[in-house]
Amino acid sequence: MTRARVPGRVNLIGEWIDFNGGTVLPMALPQCVDLEMCTNGRGYDRVKSAEFPDTADFAIDAPASGHWSDYVRGGLHYARRRGWISGGQDVMLSSAVPVGAGLSSSAATIVATLKAASAHVPGLDPAEIAFAAKSVENDFIGVPCGIMDQMAVAVGTAGHALALDTRDCSYQLIPVPAGWTFAVIHSGIARALADGRYKARREECLKAAEALGVAHLCDGDPGLAEALPGPLARRARHVVSEGRRALDAAAALRSGDFLAFGALMNASHASLREDFEVSVPEMDAMVRDAVDLGAAGARITGAGFGGCFVCLIEAPLADAWWRGLHSRHPGTSRIA
Ligand code: GLA
Repeated sequence: MTRARVPGRVNLIGEWIDFNGGTVLPMALPQCVDLEMCTNGRGYDRVKSAEFPDTADFAIDAPASGHWSDYVRGGLHYARRRGWISGGQDVMLSSAVPVGAGLSSSAATIVATLKAASAHVPGLDPAEIAFAAKSVENDFIGVPCGIMDQMAVAVGTAGHALALDTRDCSYQLIPVPAGWTFAVIHSGIARALADGRYKARREECLKAAEALGVAHLCDGDPGLAEALPGPLARRARHVVSEGRRALDAAAALRSGDFLAFGALMNASHASLREDFEVSVPEMDAMVRDAVDLGAAGARITGAGFGGCFVCLIEAPLADAWWRGLHSRHPGTSRIA
């Protein structure tokens, strides 16, 4: 029997730029996915979850089917191809990371599967597990995501932001200064990553980069971007400006500049709302109120269209601030 424990993540800033050559700033959450695995000597995988009542029995290497067990089975499929495991596996999953909230429960599940499956493989770098998990998400699940989530959950450490350069995956763990709280609030609005909107945004970014003659949209010339047709100009404006904001935010975190970090979060939300168009009006109202009640900054986090928002607040004020926000928006819940 092998085991793995992998955290969820919240992205502090640097949204929709991990496939555009940007630097992103995610942070590991206290909530984790726990997974146990053992070879069952049968010709199928049996996956159980503490969160779902059904038991999933699937023929070895059956394709993804839209079932909750796909993330585990994608990891098993990959691990068998690499020779890390052979034959059917019994897997028990238990997750405290909310599903469909933009907190990378899927990346954490795939990474946990790969970690448990490779527990006996010496010298395996966590970044290698992250790359493997991304290929499972891209090729088995069919979501053309970037590398942020997998790296964040594979190498992230509680209490630190991960400044990850998505071009070469070099990274630095930056401690969150004492006195800063990043509150993670679930809006109560469900979202799904695999529903086609993620893919559509990614394709727009590729088109915009091509039209601007750059390999990474983050390198686009802001002046030329304005001349792009239709929504491409807005998408490019978000990506180019968010790339800058994420670098500035990493600098603000290093120097402990609380107000600067908060202002960058607010600008990020406005850009996601106006230019990338991945927010929803109810979420905009919550984010506005979060700032109105005293947060230095607040923004929608993850792939958007609902899910969570993240707020920067002085630690001693966080509990009273949250009570105020919750009374204005009773459908919200505090995750961290
Ligand atoms: C999802 C994807 C990531 C990233 C974010 C948006 O979480 O998995 O790769 O693109 O959306 O920043």
